[in-house]
Amino acid sequence: MKILVTGGAGFIGSHIVDAFISEGHDVAVVDNLSSGSRDNLNPKARLYEVDVKSKELADVFEHERPDVVDHLAAQMDVRYSLENPIFDAETNVVGSINVLENCAKHKVKKFIYASTGGAVYGEPPDLPAAETCWPHPICHYGVSKYTVEHYAFLYNHLYNLRYTILRYPNIYGPRQNPHGEAGVCAILIGLMLEGKIPTLYGFGKPLRDYVYVGDIARANVIALSKANGEIINLGSGRGTSVLAIYNTLKELLNFPHDPIMKPLRAGEVNEIYITGDRALSLLGWKADVSLKDGLARTVEYIRSKQK
Ligand SMILES: NC(=O)c1ccc[n+]([C@@H]2O[C@H](COP(=O)([O-])OP(=O)(O)OC[C@H]3O[C@@H](n4cnc5c(N)ncnc54)[C@H](O)[C@@H]3O)[C@@H](O)[C@H]2O)c1
Repeated sequence: MKILVTGGAGFIGSHIVDAFISEGHDVAVVDNLSSGSRDNLNPKARLYEVDVKSKELADVFEHERPDVVDHLAAQMDVRYSLENPIFDAETNVVGSINVLENCAKHKVKKFIYASTGGAVYGEPPDLPAAETCWPHPICHYGVSKYTVEHYAFLYNHLYNLRYTILRYPNIYGPRQNPHGEAGVCAILIGLMLEGKIPTLYGFGKPLRDYVYVGDIARANVIALSKANGEIINLGSGRGTSVLAIYNTLKELLNFPHDPIMKPLRAGEVNEIYITGDRALSLLGWKADVSLKDGLARTVEYIRSKQK
């Protein structure tokens, strides 16, 4: 199958590219390298250094004629979205419409969308949040990501473009940027390896649903041929506190210090974890990698990069 992955040089996208290639698919990547990197990219994938908002995207579709588009390119930082809401919407909404327009024009057979269970639900009344929970995002990023779910439905209605929406929880693993503003596991590991004492916001109490990136890549492979027209949470169903992550890393790294504690910042939800039941019934998928194993693999990766 010919697959175009937008954001395929990024953290999660590059693992999905690897998984598609190892299944024998022919993969092209569109990425403007704003946060992604060539180093992440599988050498068997063709990279187009193109912005998803740009007119040049049409040339990529014309040239590649993909069967499937897996759309991950996005501005994905919650706090950045609060400070730069227009940039967030331009990238995440307008860029996605440009991708969908090209999908419709070139009769792409399927559109897979990386949505976010961590941000679309806001602060739901019941946890773990299921797909039946009405989304009330409390940050611009959550609104922009949720909006594109409606566009996917619309392009199916208007042009018969098949789609699957995958709502990811908090993803961690190798290639996540330890110097970024998002991705608490990578940030904590990066600081601890440098001997710096990390700050835990919300006094370490916020609960999140941490799923290893390899599990997410596997769900995308399954979605190539299943679950058309579905919205699916890729959760573990379990909430883990940031302090619990800190303590697991403290043990793995023999880190001697306690964290600095501060209150939660604007736009960040206190508790969010999401279900995985629909993923199990429709995709036969569940998150397999334990937190301890996944964190150990992430530590190894960041350590090797720091060397
Ligand atoms: N990391 C998480 O925990 C998480 C959770 C839920 C959803 N997601 C979604 O998964 C996707 C990937 O996230 P990630 O964590 O790998 O982030 P990332 O920043 O590593 O990946 C995003 C990629 O998109 C590229 N990109 C950004 N703007 C672009 C543009 N205008 N044109 C072309 N390429 C562009 C970046 O260079 C990068 O390679 C995003 O859509 C994000 O919303 C991530």
